[in-house]
Amino acid sequence: MTISAEASDGGARAPASTRSPDATGEPWDGLILGASLVTLVGPEGYGEISDGALGWRDGLLTYAGPREGLPGKPGALARDVITTDGWITPGLVDCHTHLVFAGDRAREFELRLQGASYEEIARAGGGILSTVEALRACDEDELLRQSLPRARALCADGATTLEIKSGYGLDFEGERRMLRVARRIGRELGVGVCTTYLAAHALPVEFQEQADAYIDEVIQWLPRLHAEGLVDAVDAFCEGIGFTPAQTRRVFEAARALDLPVKLHADQLSDLGGAALVAEFGGLSADHVEHTSEEGVRAMAAAGVVAVLLPGAYHVLRETRLPPLAAFREHGVAMAVATDCNPGTSPLLSLRQGIQLACTHFRLTPDEALRGATVNAARALGLGDRGALREGLRADFVRWKIRHPAELGYWLGGDLAGGVWIGGQRVHPQ
Ligand code: NIG
Ligand code: FE
Repeated sequence: MTISAEASDGGARAPASTRSPDATGEPWDGLILGASLVTLVGPEGYGEISDGALGWRDGLLTYAGPREGLPGKPGALARDVITTDGWITPGLVDCHTHLVFAGDRAREFELRLQGASYEEIARAGGGILSTVEALRACDEDELLRQSLPRARALCADGATTLEIKSGYGLDFEGERRMLRVARRIGRELGVGVCTTYLAAHALPVEFQEQADAYIDEVIQWLPRLHAEGLVDAVDAFCEGIGFTPAQTRRVFEAARALDLPVKLHADQLSDLGGAALVAEFGGLSADHVEHTSEEGVRAMAAAGVVAVLLPGAYHVLRETRLPPLAAFREHGVAMAVATDCNPGTSPLLSLRQGIQLACTHFRLTPDEALRGATVNAARALGLGDRGALREGLRADFVRWKIRHPAELGYWLGGDLAGGVWIGGQRVHPQ
């Protein structure tokens, strides 16, 4: 299932171009020489090209290959020629975030360090509901003011597309405010933004003991928000402390009626068959998936559902149950990696760091994790126009100050992103 360019803001800044990049005879807007390329073209590995060249025009790549294969002299090919070193990868795609929120949950973190579990805190009315309270007290500008630095941090470390979920409003106006702020972040930073409607994230206090009645509301709000162009996909939290599979199914049916793709917080703390449910609806991705069964993995493989691994939440919650990584590989389920940036389980502001955590905790190889944060993440958003370095794809790329791409899965912290381009525009450093 593909999110159309019209429905999504995922293509912010890159004007649609139907011209063949080389048929116009016009000079390219830019050409970088000298860096090595991680193209990620092909089914595995880095697809590396040393002494590479990368050209672009009108927001799209016109050339990604060896310098010696360029179809002319650099000065004649492009208006702007840059010679540099390091490695260029496709821009990172963060396919699962909750980065629009108010306040923080550092106090809850302290409670967890003292032994309280995420579920205990949630059941006592803390957790997600405390962020709901903070968000409801914020107007749109204040919410943007608090959220923008997080989006900026993600972009400064290589993210060029962000998925952003609602789910801390849990009433019509709050959910709408979150989605509007997500769109504003896209416009403000020129970053690709895909929005996801996650009103079925937790049960708000005013609906206590009335989960089905709340789901009725969630289903009614969806077409109104979709009509405002605020929804690219639909998600839910299918869990003991979230919603049942039956309630999730009702939300998915409402999404299907609007032709919106679905994804799910699936099998994070227990196996409720969430992954198989997404597969049944032909969804984009099942996310978390620590407790997904072999049967769930088979269903995902058959339906082409991407497994979105969220090692930040695994790390911060000090989980011990690994996702079924061997089964994903065996059955050919594509694995993506995302930050899950949120105030409760994953206050993670760097997808590169997410790659590191995926390598460390899940033993992904660095090239697998990089694919997870680029080409497979794009697939988890239904976007086929990014995630690799190939002529015709969006000119979203990052130049890293590294000697080998494995360093992206190696360093903890540091300042590695020497330049970030989105749609051919350099956005970092400015
Ligand atoms: O992906 N599990 C549900 N949702 C988020 C956490 C949200 C929160 O605690 O604020 C997650 O882990
Ligand atoms: Fe999440």
